[in-house]
Amino acid sequence: MTLARSTKLTIVGAGSVGSSLAYAALIRGSAREVVLYDIDTAKAEAEVLDLAHGTPFTGASRITGGSDIELVADSDVVVITAGAKQQPGQTRLELAGVNVRILEAMLPQLVALAPHAVFILVTNPCDVLTAVAERITDLPPGRIFSSGTVLDSARLRWLVAEAAQVAPQSVHALIVGEHGDSEFPLWSSATIGQTPLGAWIDDAGRVLFPRERLETLTHDVVNAAYKIILGKGATNYAIGLSGARIVEAVLQDERSILPVSSVLRGYRGIDGVALSVPSIVGAGGVQRVLDISLDAREEELLQRSAEALRSSIALF
Ligand code: LAC
Repeated sequence: MTLARSTKLTIVGAGSVGSSLAYAALIRGSAREVVLYDIDTAKAEAEVLDLAHGTPFTGASRITGGSDIELVADSDVVVITAGAKQQPGQTRLELAGVNVRILEAMLPQLVALAPHAVFILVTNPCDVLTAVAERITDLPPGRIFSSGTVLDSARLRWLVAEAAQVAPQSVHALIVGEHGDSEFPLWSSATIGQTPLGAWIDDAGRVLFPRERLETLTHDVVNAAYKIILGKGATNYAIGLSGARIVEAVLQDERSILPVSSVLRGYRGIDGVALSVPSIVGAGGVQRVLDISLDAREEELLQRSAEALRSSIALF
């Protein structure tokens, strides 16, 4: 009998996002070993204990953690969630200064402890941090990327599914670009099942997604985090689930196509900027960034998103 090779996921940051990602990973069985690391000893140990008490009800995964950075050693995947979080009304890009400094302070040691790991950035602004992270480590391209617009695409899929009264899993629609205010949907390739979104009709035979409805859906996705932060102070559950999903694609070498954010090179004239486009994710991280067919408006929005990020990255 071949024993399943133990897989180690380390989550850096035991705040609401990191703890939710650990919770999601335990329930989904994303990794055999989940480690939750935080510089705040009491917080890390309390979150680990609270999660561990639930493991009789989850799968075979086990959770450990604390504030000793050596816990990161030999991880297969390291997800970074540590950093300042958006305040009500604050943009993700406005977090760049403080979170770049936190990343620069800890990433070299994390890479030294886990030299073979895939690093996934969740901390915002995740696109800017990905570009900075790649610059301060000599990791091969693909081994460091961010969750990007996986969460935003999930938000869009849910909204469309609710309107059409179908399962979100049957909605195939992507948000691409910055994980932030300049993100945008790829309406030209969105479908429900095999039906193009623009051709979807309701039971009364009415077109369910006319242009003005697409604009409302776009607004609701782009502003989702602001609305949630205003109500509860942070977002955590869906980003936790999104992170666990991405971890599984890496650890199981799924070669799944996900809109994660990695540093692009020669991509429609975009160089040195990390933003989300559909990518093949498997062992080793981003295995291939996929070109996509865009209509004229989508091409313009992609370039605009790249410019917004380029300006921010240039500050570091
Ligand atoms: C959000 C955070 C993760 O979009 O940026 O909820």
